[in-house]
Amino acid sequence: MNRFHRSRSSWPGGEPVLLRRSALALILALMTASTVIGEFQGSTHLVELETEALKYSQEPTTGPVAGLIRKIEAGKAKLEWDARWGWLPSFQKALGVEAASQTLVFSKTSLQREHIHPGNPRAIYFNDDVYLGYIPGSPLVEVSEVDPRLGGVFYVVEQKPTERPVIKRVDNCLECHASSRTMGVPGHLFRSVETDRQGVIDLSTGIEPIDDRTPLADRWGGWYVTGTHGAAQHRGNRLGDEFVKAKAHPALGGNKTRLDEYFEVAKYPAAGSDIAALMVLGHQVHLHNLIARVHYMAVQHLAAYGHVDYLKSPVDGLVKQVLMAGERALEYPVRGDPEYVRAFEKTGPRDRRGRSLRQLDLQNRLFKHPCSFLIHSEAFRRLPDPVKQKVYRRMAEVLSGADRSEPFQHLSAADRQAIREILTDTLEDLPPDWKDRVRPRG
Ligand code: HEC
Repeated sequence: MNRFHRSRSSWPGGEPVLLRRSALALILALMTASTVIGEFQGSTHLVELETEALKYSQEPTTGPVAGLIRKIEAGKAKLEWDARWGWLPSFQKALGVEAASQTLVFSKTSLQREHIHPGNPRAIYFNDDVYLGYIPGSPLVEVSEVDPRLGGVFYVVEQKPTERPVIKRVDNCLECHASSRTMGVPGHLFRSVETDRQGVIDLSTGIEPIDDRTPLADRWGGWYVTGTHGAAQHRGNRLGDEFVKAKAHPALGGNKTRLDEYFEVAKYPAAGSDIAALMVLGHQVHLHNLIARVHYMAVQHLAAYGHVDYLKSPVDGLVKQVLMAGERALEYPVRGDPEYVRAFEKTGPRDRRGRSLRQLDLQNRLFKHPCSFLIHSEAFRRLPDPVKQKVYRRMAEVLSGADRSEPFQHLSAADRQAIREILTDTLEDLPPDWKDRVRPRG
């Protein structure tokens, strides 16, 4: 336990929802959240955040939000107040977060719950290392960054037309953002719940974490979803008794391309809650947490033993998730907003043949080449070198075809070859013997 878990704080918007629930409901919810325990990727126990080697509360942050704050203070960046959305658009622009990444959640599951309901959902915008939470009419924009050493670091921006925005780092967010649901590190959350017509969550029905291993039919309860997905089903766009009705009418809430029937869409910078954005969000929330967890463990093992040889299971878990092991295949193609796809695909390094890990498939699976684009992120790049080298070596076993065990059977020979070639062309810190190690076997 670290000090954040002991403290109960007073929130601008009242006490967080989880602290209000009865102990029994909380225990049940935690049990549901840890159904995948026993495997590293389901790890939930809290890591020590305040060690000699790394002190979460005292380390200077080096993520993009910290960088922007420094620039604003030095007069090198200026944010503009917008009469309609306050600091949001200027913040998005300064941090390179596209409006098209908008996803909308109406369950009252987060900090400013009294402002969130199906008629006024919370919008989340994200890129590879920043997440923004915006609720029309609420006093705070919530911000988190993926700090390459600390994991999630949290800030609020006061929605007031001042000369400069007031941006504060707030560590008490960890009451929810460093728990069994974030793999026990400061991290991010994405869950599927059932709610009533006001967005109040029904704990008796359970809380499912959402990532790319979650069946589509279990995803997105409590969220709006725009986009088409053939005869496949999901739990988005359902309220109250519709969860029961959907048992007889499974198409209920599916294949919506507009959300006007639920709320005034013009209150938000984008019109939808894009299905492809939701799929990327689920993938990256889980992987960000996993990278942060491996980082904390590596720092602690290096300090205690001088090596990371005991981290075989975390390394295996990370490699599995990076190579999309366990991803649920799509039963039908999904189609969302082409604007999101364009925004997502446009950046990122390409290999000499123009291929990139950001190419989306959306026919049978999320990515065209089943290897996460987050391998190019700062968070991955700055994993302590000994553990990163182990990750690369383990990846080489799989990509060479030497290891074709069950978790990696989704990778065809062509997939392995494409990923090998893309990584070889785009990563600068591969081990010196990488080319030998990935040479095709068998
Ligand atoms: C009561 C628990 C709770 C507290 C306290 C809380 N959050 Fe969250 N937060 C959530 C949940 C749950 C989600 C997932 C989306 C949802 O359900 O709204 C989330 C999502 C987010 C996201 C989107 C990225 C992600 O993790 O999915 C940001 C940004 C965020 N919160 C910022 C903050 C900040 C900043 C604070 C503190 C000022 C804070 N949160 C405090 C529960 C909480």
